[in-house]
Amino acid sequence: MGKDVIIACDFNSKEETLAFLDKFSGKKPYVKIGMELFYAEGPAIVRALKERGHQIFLDLKLHDIPNTVKKAMAVLSRLDVDMVNLHAAGTRAMMEGALEGVTRPDGSRPLVIAVTQLTSTSQERMAEELLIPTPIDETVMHYAANAAQAGLDGVVCAPLEAGKVHQRCGEGFLTITPGIRFADGEKGDQVRVTTPAQAKELGSDYIVVGRPITQAADPVAAYQRCVKEFVG
Ligand code: C5P
Repeated sequence: MGKDVIIACDFNSKEETLAFLDKFSGKKPYVKIGMELFYAEGPAIVRALKERGHQIFLDLKLHDIPNTVKKAMAVLSRLDVDMVNLHAAGTRAMMEGALEGVTRPDGSRPLVIAVTQLTSTSQERMAEELLIPTPIDETVMHYAANAAQAGLDGVVCAPLEAGKVHQRCGEGFLTITPGIRFADGEKGDQVRVTTPAQAKELGSDYIVVGRPITQAADPVAAYQRCVKEFVG
């Protein structure tokens, strides 16, 4: 599995997304389509970007009863996306249902990645609102192990957690890592940030990069800088 840079296309319209991607005349970058763009434009945006030759991580974070997730995953896999995700909190039964649903008649399927605990959830909220008193990093690793046990391909995590995830779930278990910033860049609302080069050293398999590329004066140069630092 090759390391790659995934651009988070956090736009809310097809026009804005295509105007941004039109700047890339050479290699078509791997892109992430999240809820904002998908709910605004529907499956058509996925088909449009596929036709243009992009690999797609469809970041919809499914979480429902196993049967519903299985059927929803079957529909998403027909869009020919390359990576999809779900919440590990949905249990192993839900993750197994997802894998079953996402597998195409020819046996191929997109990579299926789990979200463990959202980084927006603090230890206090976990304990007080969700009644989960376990230290949050222990919960994260336990959810990752559940995902591996269910047969998933990897998790979304911070680059600093990539080593621990690989140790617990195996070197082949993928780590998809956001929170990436250039050494000389703005942090924005990300708290713990890592450069693409550090993410490589820490063992990330894919980095997800949004604003450092989408808001750059020269997005193509910023993307190429990420690729150079991360892939080499
Ligand atoms: O603009 P930025 O590089 O911060 O974008 C990072 C992308 O990764 C966004 O799409 C964000 O929603 C996503 N993400 C994240 N942190 C997580 C999970 C996903 O930043 N823990």
